[in-house]
Amino acid sequence: MKITVLTICPEQFGDFARTPLIARAQASGLLAFEVVDIRDFAPGSFRAVDDSPYGGGAGMVLRVEPVVRALEAVRTPSTRVIVLAPSGTPYTQKKAHELAKAEHLVLICGHFEGMDARIWDYADELVSIGDYVLTGGELAAMVIADSVMRLVPGSMKAESVREESFEQGLLEYPQYTRPADFCGKKVPDVLLSGDHGAIRAWRQQEALRLTRERRPDLLGETGAEEES
Ligand code: ADE
Repeated sequence: MKITVLTICPEQFGDFARTPLIARAQASGLLAFEVVDIRDFAPGSFRAVDDSPYGGGAGMVLRVEPVVRALEAVRTPSTRVIVLAPSGTPYTQKKAHELAKAEHLVLICGHFEGMDARIWDYADELVSIGDYVLTGGELAAMVIADSVMRLVPGSMKAESVREESFEQGLLEYPQYTRPADFCGKKVPDVLLSGDHGAIRAWRQQEALRLTRERRPDLLGETGAEEES
């Protein structure tokens, strides 16, 4: 799989591209991660990537031309194009699984007060990582790239992914490691019992309890509560 990010702030991705998950996946050939500077595709000697909005209003708007020129330089017939924007559809683990199947993903980061709406016409979809506004789409692109790359077969143990929050429509059960007693706070006895059936049942029950407590909306959506 290949992920290409189109951005006006390529320097933001330096440390991200060097994180162990990505560096390892790149070294083993599972993944290619590429960052493209939209400014390199801006016409004129000033290479302006933004301009003031038609109709007036505060701030500047990301121009359509450099973005589309950058996209045309990287896209292939199998490319899936995602625009990051607070007005996009909410990002979920389900969407991460769907995107992990793509051969080539292009993530377009907005910036300034917004982007020229004609950029949307070149995307397969608009995605938001939450109901808040970031300065640019770069952090959102990192969130999506990270969550997608760890699902690419071979980059993580399938078992670890299966047991995580959201994978079964529930939050993940609580985990503990040594010591068994920390300042009187004890690890639940069942986890020390060696009874794998009892441990599985306890984990399922705890996952349900935490979900009910913290994210009852997930139970409404999945019907997992009725199945238990
Ligand atoms: N750009 C700015 N805010 C964003 C958000 N919440 N999600 C995706 N892209 C964004």
